[in-house]
Amino acid sequence: MKALIAAGGHATRLRPITWTRNKHLIPLANHPMLWYVIKKITEAGIKEIIINVNPGEIQMMRDGLGDGSEFGAHIHYLEQRGGAMGIAHAVANAEEHLRGERFLFFLGDNIILGGINHLVDRFENEQLDCLIALSRVKDPHRFGVPVFDDAGKLIRMVEKPKDPPSPFAVTGIYFFDQTYFEVFKTTKPSARGEYEIADVISWYIANGKTGHEEITGWWKDTGTPDANILQ
Ligand code: G1P
Repeated sequence: MKALIAAGGHATRLRPITWTRNKHLIPLANHPMLWYVIKKITEAGIKEIIINVNPGEIQMMRDGLGDGSEFGAHIHYLEQRGGAMGIAHAVANAEEHLRGERFLFFLGDNIILGGINHLVDRFENEQLDCLIALSRVKDPHRFGVPVFDDAGKLIRMVEKPKDPPSPFAVTGIYFFDQTYFEVFKTTKPSARGEYEIADVISWYIANGKTGHEEITGWWKDTGTPDANILQ
């Protein structure tokens, strides 16, 4: 299995510290933030990693994170083509490296304390088509949110709903099968002009074997200053 990490974007919500540096290289207790993501992925046995970066930032990212040998892994840095068109599009950008693969997609600004081994195992053992990791949060309207029916069955995912239908965030830790690229081609940009991962996942929930798993340990999306206040 391969992993794709999204590490592009301009982190406007974290300025001024991101004016000169990609947010994924911001140090957190002696290591760049993304180092922890790579560590969790490699500890789960995934050794082929593709990191999606902004155009012109390959060297900066490689200088900060290396080639993966430190983790017994191989890291390939890939520039985002076609501009920032949403998270789902960043996956499509890596199609030539992931075609025919079952893969993990990890948003580089997500930090978790526990491991992801149990998620990898579940995705593989149950041969799921898609697996999403959920975290119970106080402010689900800031995230993608899963929708359940009265019987507790997962029926769809909505992006940043004003009136959240459940107390969970869909974290930026997703597993997909090789159908992803066909599904992506059926999606259209949303009102905010982005290809939404929520649309891809909703397709999987409706048409595939999709699992969900709650992360009960500490999880943070570090993309906003507020999110980084320890609580
Ligand atoms: C993105 C996704 C959202 C998800 C979140 C997790 O939001 O669009 O569905 O819940 O990451 O970190 P963003 O942080 O880009 O606003």
